[in-house]
Amino acid sequence: MDWGMRNRLSRIIQPRDGRALVIPIDHGYFLGPMTGLEDPRKTLEPLIPYLDAIMLTRGILRNCVDPNFDKGVILRVSGGQSIVGPSLSDEDIITSVEEAVRLNASAVSLSIYVGTEHEHQTLTNLAKLIDECERYGIPVLAVTAVGRELEKREARYLALCCRIAAELGARFVKTYYCDGFEKVVEGCPVPVLIAGGPKMETEMDVFETIYGSLEAGGSGVVMGRNIWQNDHPAAMIRAVRAIIHEDATPKEAHQFYTQLVEEESKGV
Ligand code: 5RP
Repeated sequence: MDWGMRNRLSRIIQPRDGRALVIPIDHGYFLGPMTGLEDPRKTLEPLIPYLDAIMLTRGILRNCVDPNFDKGVILRVSGGQSIVGPSLSDEDIITSVEEAVRLNASAVSLSIYVGTEHEHQTLTNLAKLIDECERYGIPVLAVTAVGRELEKREARYLALCCRIAAELGARFVKTYYCDGFEKVVEGCPVPVLIAGGPKMETEMDVFETIYGSLEAGGSGVVMGRNIWQNDHPAAMIRAVRAIIHEDATPKEAHQFYTQLVEEESKGV
């Protein structure tokens, strides 16, 4: 791997442990100002000290993030559809690689919709983007999207999606945690990160999901709603960080979270 590619990737996947804690705030590109992201700057600010990288669109990067931001930036470059339109899978490339260079992106991300009417379109989008990004040493993160079909989050399907993304040249992949997640990781020769999906019932569910993914060989998270929709986002990201970078167990992470929430309520 060339120096530029390695340098950019190291801003996201930390070289000391090979893991990443990425906070995505790109949901508005098809969902609009959803709960927790009405004011992206306000959502992001308390999380910055604890994250490795953010994932977002160029519009939110330019308008809501200070240019002296010194962590990794994954630029979302696919879109062109909306939650009220006919098809969530009907995505194209919406931001050029030249723009990614101009914005000093550490990586770019694009969704693929395997098994949908737009499978071919999104996979060829991925391949074309990779061809161009490889020329400039920019890593591409493939997002294995399921749209509204959350039931698709099972090992056989996700292993298929992740492997296809890696075969096309994605440098890393974002997918979902599932039973048998080790099969997804084993079949994919590049790092696999997990999204959180809709907010889970308890904090412990989130901690167990992350811990389980790491135990199965996963490389970390690109996790949004389960962190910034929590009542205590800063406590939540610190507990998540303890699991990812300090090998905390779900129980230890939960104790840490509870302690931080108590301190917060006392104004410590
Ligand atoms: C939007 C995305 C999100 O970045 C992704 O779903 C991760 O966020 P969450 O943890 O909230 O699911 O790719 O399409």
